Amino acid sequence: MRTGIDILESELVEKYPQVLYSLLLDNTTGKNIIWATDNYEHLGDLYSYHSPILPELITGDYGSIIMPRVHKDKILQINRSKEMAEVFTPSWICNAQNNLIDNAWFEREGVFNSEIVLSNGTKSWEVNQEKISFPKSKTWKDYVKNKRLEISCGEAPYITSRYDSTTGEFIAVNNRIGLLDRKLRVINENTESESEWFKAAIVAYKNTYAFEWQGDSLLIAREAMLTTFIENYKQKFDKEPLLKNIQILADIISWNVWQMDGLKGVIPNSCSDTTDVIEDLFGSKTENTKECNGCKTNNILNHNGNYCFIMDWDEKDPKKNSIGKRIRFVDLINK
Ligand SMILES: C[S@@+](CC[C@H](N)C(=O)[O-])C[C@H]1O[C@@H](n2cnc3c(N)ncnc32)[C@H](O)[C@@H]1O
Repeated sequence: MRTGIDILESELVEKYPQVLYSLLLDNTTGKNIIWATDNYEHLGDLYSYHSPILPELITGDYGSIIMPRVHKDKILQINRSKEMAEVFTPSWICNAQNNLIDNAWFEREGVFNSEIVLSNGTKSWEVNQEKISFPKSKTWKDYVKNKRLEISCGEAPYITSRYDSTTGEFIAVNNRIGLLDRKLRVINENTESESEWFKAAIVAYKNTYAFEWQGDSLLIAREAMLTTFIENYKQKFDKEPLLKNIQILADIISWNVWQMDGLKGVIPNSCSDTTDVIEDLFGSKTENTKECNGCKTNNILNHNGNYCFIMDWDEKDPKKNSIGKRIRFVDLINK
């Protein structure tokens, strides 16, 4: 697969046949993620807002229709900004904000890199080349399993910085600044064998979460996270990871990076009006249409749409031989 910034779905299917199916799965509905944008509806009914994104709609002749924002037509970019507040954050800002999280966790500054200003005035960072050291009471394993979430993730630039999402400039593995990139760096520095590395990578991915409204950006975010895994593995072991391991990671990503309206905790636009038909003593009928109570009262706990499920990988469902415990995202709000 090419290492350009645009991951082509046709290449993905050709090289890793089952993987695209996992990356398109919505674990709440058991069906595929939906477009949740009308940007593609000119291509036909199957590309309409509520339609599922199917592999055949984005591969073959249609193999290049899903592309990063930076490659999208300028007018489309403006429309997406107006309709969905889609404006992506430059990598140097993602880095500065991710540094704040690590400053707090490590209780010191400049752990992964130092923020710098280049001679042309551009803000950037310089990677700290030394092996990362850990505070007395914490280990590298604690860092890898510390949970991170990018809300409204777009193409997930805070999670993995394969490219600067505002300029499209590719960023080499050693220079990345995302939340997941940092976990993978720590794993690269602290493991030797492939099995030890892979075990730790699974923990890193299980503890990295993100959600997004629009189906195309969500797929790009999922693909970027999977490609990051492949790139890191190749760099560390100088060979491709096994297909079965790529598939395991794709399945975790499809749980942890999910499609949701973050203001409602439900699948985008899944709330609906309900109509009761009331019949009086004389048989005449009147219809009473009610708006979703959650939408009407702006109460996240009272929607009638599809509440999104995520996986708590640390818990087991006692009744089933499960991989973890399926929980509603909205139920985390009061915790
Ligand atoms: C300003 S962009 C930020 C993307 C990314 N986090 C970044 O910093 O580059 C906002 C993203 O939020 C998504 N979005 C807007 N409203 C949302 C909502 N209610 N729930 C989830 N995502 C939403 C848009 O589709 C868009 O991708």
